[in-house]
Amino acid sequence: MTEKRSSFTGKIGFVLAAAGSAVGLGNIWRFPYLAAKYGGGVFLLVYIILAVTFGFALMCAEIAIGRKTGQSAINAFRSLDKRFGFVGIIASVIPAIILPYYSVIGGWVSKYLFAFVSGDATASASDSYFTSFISKPFEPIGWFLIFMGLTALVVLLGVEKGVEKVSKIMMPVLVVLTIVIAVYSITIDGAMEGVKYYLLPDFSRFSATTVLAAMGQLFYSMSLAMGIMITYGSYMKKDVSVEKSVHQIEIFDTGIAFLAGLMIIPAVFAFSGGDEAALGKGPSLMFITLPKVFNSMPAGAVIGAAFFLLVLFAALTSSISLMETVVSIVRDKFGWGRKVSCLAVFLFCIVLGIPSSLGFGIWDFVTVAGLSILDMFDFVSNSVLMPIVAFLTCIFVGYVIKPKALIEEIEIGAPFKAKTLFTVVIKYVAPVCIVLILISSVLDVLGVMKI
Ligand code: PFF
Repeated sequence: MTEKRSSFTGKIGFVLAAAGSAVGLGNIWRFPYLAAKYGGGVFLLVYIILAVTFGFALMCAEIAIGRKTGQSAINAFRSLDKRFGFVGIIASVIPAIILPYYSVIGGWVSKYLFAFVSGDATASASDSYFTSFISKPFEPIGWFLIFMGLTALVVLLGVEKGVEKVSKIMMPVLVVLTIVIAVYSITIDGAMEGVKYYLLPDFSRFSATTVLAAMGQLFYSMSLAMGIMITYGSYMKKDVSVEKSVHQIEIFDTGIAFLAGLMIIPAVFAFSGGDEAALGKGPSLMFITLPKVFNSMPAGAVIGAAFFLLVLFAALTSSISLMETVVSIVRDKFGWGRKVSCLAVFLFCIVLGIPSSLGFGIWDFVTVAGLSILDMFDFVSNSVLMPIVAFLTCIFVGYVIKPKALIEEIEIGAPFKAKTLFTVVIKYVAPVCIVLILISSVLDVLGVMKI
């Protein structure tokens, strides 16, 4: 690419753009169901510890790599050391795996928005509503195509800036609404048990799989280990503080995830009469629980509609950032124009998205190691590829270019207070933990051994 790279305007521009990519379905849909499934308080604690160590160090590293090289992932690794170009390539595959199934879930959100707007709010609170919706062959695919089409349209027309502007207003409203719903949720009869489950760690539930799930979620939620933050870093101005920006993104991203958990998990307890089996609902958890909350709330139909609209926006800013990334990789790799690349990515997503959707209905007999098709894509990207990319990034920074190279880059803008933490995590703690956790939980999923 010969055109000059544009850069984010102002100090806050970078944080807002990165937060737009980070805050999405990962926070509101994925975090609560994982926390519910993997032991509540233990998961939350592990997640927070990982966020302030791994998450912090890796995000600083990725942004600094991007800013230092001025390149996106594939070229950034290669330009620093030829032998590591392949890390950029693996990283770039990840958004392409995520985008199709992300859009399937985006389609579910669109369906619920429609249900709430069209007066179906009460019906959506019934037990069978969600299951009968996702097991239909055509309807979920229709909503997936609508969501995917919207994303593609924005990318094709190049109007991301417009969407970002709207979402700058929507995001704070989303935070306020999530707080209101969370406060209501914890006051429902029987919800206190859920609050305890979510906030008090029960260490007997701790396992390697909990750590891997939390780690995968951390990467996913903060858009790490997939080249995205390298690209964002390449647009960052040199006088902006990397460390401060990372803190701001982390607080915002983790804060929303925490609130989403508080909104959903206590309600699961309240509506299931304390039956813990209800916690293991996986990807469907939010869609089953929230309509019940709205149904029991004063003005629930209006609040529900507003909520799903805001979540749809958060999901769109994320899917747009995912698609933008995939399209730019396709453009660079094949030299195709923007329109052709968009079309190619769109078709590719349809090919992977349709089976992900059918996996909850007529193709539910297709499972890999007990996982549905959508869960399988999710597992491969979050629990296998991202940890591998994160590990290789740590080795690359810790032992090839050396932490000092990035510390110097970071210090151009402002002093780097946590540079010792950064170095220790990148060189020793993260690589060792990632390898141990990856091995033990892959074995676990394959059913070879249970830790
Ligand atoms: N971080 C987003 C979320 O939590 O929903 C998911 C995501 C968006 C990942 C954009 C990667 C990305 F480029």
